[in-house]
Amino acid sequence: MTQKIKDLLKKMTVEEKAEICSGASRWRTHSIDRLEIPEIMMADGPHGLRKEPKEKESASMGESVEAICFPTASALACSWDRDLMSRMGEALGEESQTEDVNILLGPGVNIKRSPLCGRNFEYFSEDPLLASELAANYVKGVQSMGVGTSLKHFAANNQEHRRLTVDAQIDERTLREIYLSAFEKVVKEAQPWTVMCAYNQVNGTHASENKYLLTDVLKEEWGHEGFVVSDWGAVNYRDKGIAAGLELEMPSSHGDGKKAIVEAVENGSLSEESLDRAAERMLKIIFKAVENDRDDLNYSKDEHHQLAREIAADSMVLLKNEESILPLAEDEKLGVVGSFAKKPRFQGGGSSNINPYQVDNAYAELEKYTDQKLAYAEGYSLESDEDDVKLIAKAKELAEKVDKVIIFAGLPDRYESEGYDRDTLEIPPNQNRLIEEVAEVNKNAIVVLSNGSPITMPWLNNVKGVLEGYLTGQAGGGAAADILFGHVNPSGKLAETFPQKLSDNPSYLFFPGEKDKVEYREGIFVGYRYYDSKEIEPLFPFGYGLSYTDFEYSDLKIKKNEITDQETLNLSLKVKNTGDIYGKEIIQLYVSDPESTVIKPEKELKEFAKVELEPGQEKIVEFELAKRAFAYYNTEIDDWYVESGEYDILVGASSRDIRLKETVRVESTVELPYEYTINTNVGDILADPEAEEVFNELLSEYLEGTDLFEMLGGRKSEMMEAMLKYMPLRALVMFSEGAVNRKQVEEIVEKLNNNL
Ligand code: GLC
Repeated sequence: MTQKIKDLLKKMTVEEKAEICSGASRWRTHSIDRLEIPEIMMADGPHGLRKEPKEKESASMGESVEAICFPTASALACSWDRDLMSRMGEALGEESQTEDVNILLGPGVNIKRSPLCGRNFEYFSEDPLLASELAANYVKGVQSMGVGTSLKHFAANNQEHRRLTVDAQIDERTLREIYLSAFEKVVKEAQPWTVMCAYNQVNGTHASENKYLLTDVLKEEWGHEGFVVSDWGAVNYRDKGIAAGLELEMPSSHGDGKKAIVEAVENGSLSEESLDRAAERMLKIIFKAVENDRDDLNYSKDEHHQLAREIAADSMVLLKNEESILPLAEDEKLGVVGSFAKKPRFQGGGSSNINPYQVDNAYAELEKYTDQKLAYAEGYSLESDEDDVKLIAKAKELAEKVDKVIIFAGLPDRYESEGYDRDTLEIPPNQNRLIEEVAEVNKNAIVVLSNGSPITMPWLNNVKGVLEGYLTGQAGGGAAADILFGHVNPSGKLAETFPQKLSDNPSYLFFPGEKDKVEYREGIFVGYRYYDSKEIEPLFPFGYGLSYTDFEYSDLKIKKNEITDQETLNLSLKVKNTGDIYGKEIIQLYVSDPESTVIKPEKELKEFAKVELEPGQEKIVEFELAKRAFAYYNTEIDDWYVESGEYDILVGASSRDIRLKETVRVESTVELPYEYTINTNVGDILADPEAEEVFNELLSEYLEGTDLFEMLGGRKSEMMEAMLKYMPLRALVMFSEGAVNRKQVEEIVEKLNNNL
């Protein structure tokens, strides 16, 4: 704690400390003029600056200043590009500084447990490693411009249904490996100035007063140095929040929160030390914001728009390109169908909704690339799901006259948003119908999609091209044109599985739960961890995406075939662009543990890289795998543990397209505590050579030279082995027909514990 903060804390009254921990408005903290403590301002994110003009701040979710609307997280994640995330963060930091915003409320790293979650457009992935790597670089980018971030929503905010009250019931290993680990990596690697606690409960306690999450894990275990801010309206009991490690209540509770804190300190139910700790963290970030305040930044909106276009293009995923129907040629007769071509859906609904200063539409951007007249038909209404036979007829008429038809489709705003979940994976029936009908009259159909999360594609076999844009931000129309005409070679890969049908999803039976209880009964089997373990064929797998060129993987080398869990495994491979155009390839590295004695997914993503390659160019890609790449969260020791054994290193172009494989042996250096009891299975003892030796010596003392097998009929029959394997020590009395009595069994147990 700096001396300045120490001195200030001493001067502050309880009232003032409580005030600094209570929002002053929708977006600002209190200033304490007497002590020259300034206010700070925060505003949403995550994919653009949503700052409300000061005079309009009191209204709920009012209009906001013009800003650049970048692609939303579900699109960004498909870039698998750390540098791109950092560059976007820098741009957001510039815009926030320019608008005097001290903290940008993002990124959101909640895991996509179900594709139905209404806010999945705002989240990165079903995989915590991918989410954390991208989010960490976003945070570093924003904070490099002297603006804080707010990593959200901590934790397990994986549905919108009853989000302010629902209790997410999650076993500890699942919580650690899936729902906390994205937050962990970002906190440890990027130190977001703030973390935003979630609305929901976690295992029976509101996230806003969950000491285990906010203090034990976040502060003490992971070392978070900033403060925790509540989600807007997430506070349950303010004094409990302070005690648990929630430093700031937002928005203003008009004095209620402050009063609750002061009363609790006065009546002794809240220690002043707890309040001091909270106030100290607040002051640290407030003065950090002041120190980092800059007025030298004059960013160019056009430059940021171009960056948004580059990011969108590098995030789009080419899902199908039959007969290389893409890229388009300038002289082809093309038809454009679908309202989204002229009225793009480029972002999601709710607190992240940006007021974009410019929005490209794909139709206008496509027109710039073609030297032909570009026909257009609306195809469907965005306001209704009903077929419009006239619109469909016009679209078919157009389709008959052109070489290729590009159909823009996806999810209208009303289908997904903050505040509610979807109840289907389908896109509006009138769009499915339009695609079917148009593809019938023109086989050269290409579908360009705008959706915040997975959808089904009943027409997939009837079209030749599918380009998944997700929610591409304000420059998405131009980005789509860049890809469709081949000015950009698509390089995105899916950051989540597209299932064939909703009921294939592992959370299907338990989402969104019953009233205010949702049990994560699928455990660690989220996304590809489930589909790959169960060998369920997805519509499109995690990590999948096509390019206009091809890549060859070769020469996977691991430096050592055997390491301990304290060592790092260095490995390398070669990737070559075997095509005739420049491209970028996302290489994925999974670890599989076929010998595991604990339940584990078939494979798990542990590293990735995105490389750019000129035609014919080959590069060596290097990775390092440390302990966590082989570890699981062992709840017996409440720590990450690596089991000794052989692990497969799988390198692939997607989770279902493994190109190279090597095996490495990892030796654990951690002795798991083990207590022998009368219920220890004999088989477990015999499986451990050291224990077996001690056990047999002990037994021979009691069995006068005959060994266990002789005692058990003198033959090592399979049946006997099987019986022994699952026989608790206490059953020796019965099996030895009294040669060993219960007291002696208890002596054996004691000696085993003393000798091992
Ligand atoms: C919202 C969201 C959160 C946002 C905050 C401020 O309810 O859950 O992500 O940052 O309130 O708008």
